[in-house]
Amino acid sequence: MYDMKRRDFLTSAAAAFVIAGGGSTLVRGGFAAETPPRLQMPPLIDTRASGRLAMTAQAGSSNFLGGPAIPTAGYSQAYLGPTVIMQNGPLAAEIGNTLSEPVSVHWHGMKIAGNHDGGPHQPVLPGKVWKPEMQVNQDPATIWYHSHIHERTAQQVYNGLAGVIHLTDGRDDERGLPSAYGIDDLTLVLQDRSFDRKGRMVYEPSMMDRMHGFHGNRMLINGQSGAVAAVPKGIVRLRLLNGSNARIYNLFFSDGRPMHLVATDGGFLPQPLALDMLQLAPGERAEILVDFSVADAPVLMSDPDQAYGVLEFAVDDTLSARITSLPDKIGSPLEELNGPDTKTRKISLDMGMGMMMGGGGFAINGQPFDMDRIDFNVALGSVERWIVRSSMVAHPFHVHGVQFRVLSEDGSPPRPENSGWKDTVLVPTQTEILVRFEHSANKENPFMLHCHILEHEDAGMMAQFTVS
Ligand code: C2O
Ligand code: CU
Ligand code: CU
Repeated sequence: MYDMKRRDFLTSAAAAFVIAGGGSTLVRGGFAAETPPRLQMPPLIDTRASGRLAMTAQAGSSNFLGGPAIPTAGYSQAYLGPTVIMQNGPLAAEIGNTLSEPVSVHWHGMKIAGNHDGGPHQPVLPGKVWKPEMQVNQDPATIWYHSHIHERTAQQVYNGLAGVIHLTDGRDDERGLPSAYGIDDLTLVLQDRSFDRKGRMVYEPSMMDRMHGFHGNRMLINGQSGAVAAVPKGIVRLRLLNGSNARIYNLFFSDGRPMHLVATDGGFLPQPLALDMLQLAPGERAEILVDFSVADAPVLMSDPDQAYGVLEFAVDDTLSARITSLPDKIGSPLEELNGPDTKTRKISLDMGMGMMMGGGGFAINGQPFDMDRIDFNVALGSVERWIVRSSMVAHPFHVHGVQFRVLSEDGSPPRPENSGWKDTVLVPTQTEILVRFEHSANKENPFMLHCHILEHEDAGMMAQFTVS
């Protein structure tokens, strides 16, 4: 359906996936390697045997484009953090911080109590260690973690303080899903970053960037630029995380081959849904199956209107294709979430005229975020219907400590991407969600709800609530 011929994007690939359009500066040539490197996965930490997870936020130095090295940050490495494998049960985490500023580890997508959430109320101060004793108890899913210090989240995540979690029940073979990490099960952290003419990654948001969120001029996948993902000649699972500050991707393959959606933020769908295009807003995850047994490997692209390359694939015949057909059933049917006493709550994501006048205007229900103000309380165990409205632009709306279901988008049934369990949903105009609150959060450790455009969140488009 997207009439793109292979040679067209090969030409665009020669520019090493520079993102054109939208007023961003083009940085062409000079930095791309002659032979593209092979895409690497983040290192793995498997917590299943030990029930422990130790990571340290640390300073690093990274050289993404072969230019001068620049200061970055990561968890136990120079940029980003390891992929953490978890299972349900107790998990004792130990999060250190050798940086000179407070950071945190927020478990985005985990259904855990407020005191373990890792949000702005649980900073890890320099030189200190945070030791939450968590109880993991939810469906298998691709989750993520990132720093979440109020007014510093955008800069800290941009610098590299983020990573992926695979919550597994060890039953992917029964489901017929690929599960060999880095072979037929690829973890892909999508981030656009801005590079100057010397190839240095920069974060200098202008007034416009604060308004629209900061957009970069190049793609990094797992912190790598211009790398090619090697895949076996079979069915491959891609776990996609939009770890960008503000960019919304509309992903599609250059040859139009389908993406079979098998999981949303909070877990599996009952069966694969074939999509031509997948929208992924900041904070969202999606798992798709792609058949690489046919024809040449395509390029993963974004935005049919102003197309740019996101990631190039190449079939490697030496990799074993364990899965050669699509499963027709994956998860159990999605549980209904309704209650007779469902309470309705209205949430408006505000960008006001104050912002045009310089600063201010970012708020939820008219009030900019205040660490010392609890905005509301929700009854523990209850189900609520939230009507979320966006002003001025589409905002990706995220809630801590829960997984919710989308009831309607602008009065219509949810798009396929939003048909399963979600913790983040792009709200173009008005979206209704149903949320069940299964974990408590006290006023010292409330849950956040916010826009996941990190510049909006830092500027005050965030609120907090208790569950009791
Ligand atoms: Cu991804 Cu409040 O976070
Ligand atoms: Cu979160
Ligand atoms: Cu926003």
